[in-house]
Amino acid sequence: MIERPIIALDFSTKVEIVPFLKKFPSEESLFVKVGMELFYQEGPDIVRFLKASGHDIFLDLKLHDIPNTVERAMKGLAQLGVSLTNVHAAGGKEMMAAAVSGLIAGSSQQKVPQLIAVTQLTSTSQKQMQSEQLIETTLIDSVCHYALLAQAAGLDGVVCSALEATAIHQKTSEDFICVTPGIRPDLAKIEDQKRVVTPSKARALGANAIVVGRPITKAQDPYQMYRSIKKEWSEKNDNFTN
Ligand code: C5P
Repeated sequence: MIERPIIALDFSTKVEIVPFLKKFPSEESLFVKVGMELFYQEGPDIVRFLKASGHDIFLDLKLHDIPNTVERAMKGLAQLGVSLTNVHAAGGKEMMAAAVSGLIAGSSQQKVPQLIAVTQLTSTSQKQMQSEQLIETTLIDSVCHYALLAQAAGLDGVVCSALEATAIHQKTSEDFICVTPGIRPDLAKIEDQKRVVTPSKARALGANAIVVGRPITKAQDPYQMYRSIKKEWSEKNDNFTN
């Protein structure tokens, strides 16, 4: 289990990141998510900067291309020393296995990053999946199928909704990690997310990590909010009823 909530750094530039991170004690090592918005503006230097500041990184670039291209791209990304990165499971088993090979090849001196797969995006509805992707099964069956494919390709886990974590663990194994966005400490403020859960519910459902963006980045006191989410996420609550 990843004990620290992963903070989604959904900003476009380093100029916005620096004052945001100043709101946290300088000695506090965070686990942050760098996505396409930031990476495409600032490039690999933003990852080097965050690493040099003592943070762990989930590089969320969702690669999806032919196996050879993904393998070579992953080899380069591994050299940045990130802890976690991802691909789209829809790219297929061969592509996912190539991503693993690329990460191993690029991690000569350091720990190989964990690799997870996006199954069905949480923005995809079952109706849309069936009419646009021509997948006739249910959404949960498609998600579990992709999770099994990712496991067979040698990946460490998937990105999914916490609501899918129990079914995925049943189909794969307890140590196959489910990294879950769509987390809201206050269910009254869900913004554009559709399937949201609280940090404690995510834990009760078997999520192995939570990704939290706006509840922290838009909070009046981001550090206070981070600490409160971290406490709720890491406390085992046997009387959970929500
Ligand atoms: O602000 P919020 O907490 O909704 O941010 C969630 C983060 O997780 C965003 O960076 C979003 O891109 C990402 N994400 C998601 N759903 C997925 C995959 C990633 O919300 N299925």
